[in-house]
Amino acid sequence: MKNIAIFASGAGSNARKIIDRLQGSTTIRVAAIITNKPDAGVLRIAEAENIPSYIIDKETFFRGDAYVKLLQDLHIDLIVLAGFLWKVPANLVQAFPDKIINIHPALLPKYGGKGVYGHFVHEAVIAAGDAESGITIHFVNEKYDDGTTILQEKCPVSPDDTPETLAKKVQALEHEWFPIIVERLLT
Ligand code: GAR
Repeated sequence: MKNIAIFASGAGSNARKIIDRLQGSTTIRVAAIITNKPDAGVLRIAEAENIPSYIIDKETFFRGDAYVKLLQDLHIDLIVLAGFLWKVPANLVQAFPDKIINIHPALLPKYGGKGVYGHFVHEAVIAAGDAESGITIHFVNEKYDDGTTILQEKCPVSPDDTPETLAKKVQALEHEWFPIIVERLLT
């Protein structure tokens, strides 16, 4: 059995899709849900699905090896960042080489980096007049939104798109592709 840890601090819609896809899998299970927000939507999902959840203590996360040890003790094979906005500390990246992936709602390297997430991304894409946007799924290194690309999928941006309508198109791509890639990496 391969174990996944999902790090999520937003609404948790991508976590939901991954959990749904792996429901009934005999080879991959979501072994932990980890968040830095005590009110993250993903905690309700974890409770409903009986998945152990952990709320990150910021000091502990950025200093020392407590979370590395936790994830090793849980025998985590893949760490999936699904709306997790903190930089992953170097010790965690080094302990899980090529075993941490992130999804970003844009075609990196455009519209990435610290503070560029969620609606900020879609506002910037529209303000720039880009004809297309999309998603990037990539391995995580010690920099924000860097690391080797695993998959990019594109969608058109039409002249009448708003950040909200573009967000919907991009989210549809995320929900379609992220669970597939997670499964593929562990199969
Ligand atoms: C997703 O759109 C994901 O791409 C983005 O956060 C959202 C989480 O939504 N992540 C980033 O911007 C990372 N830089 P969700 O909580 O509904 O899955």
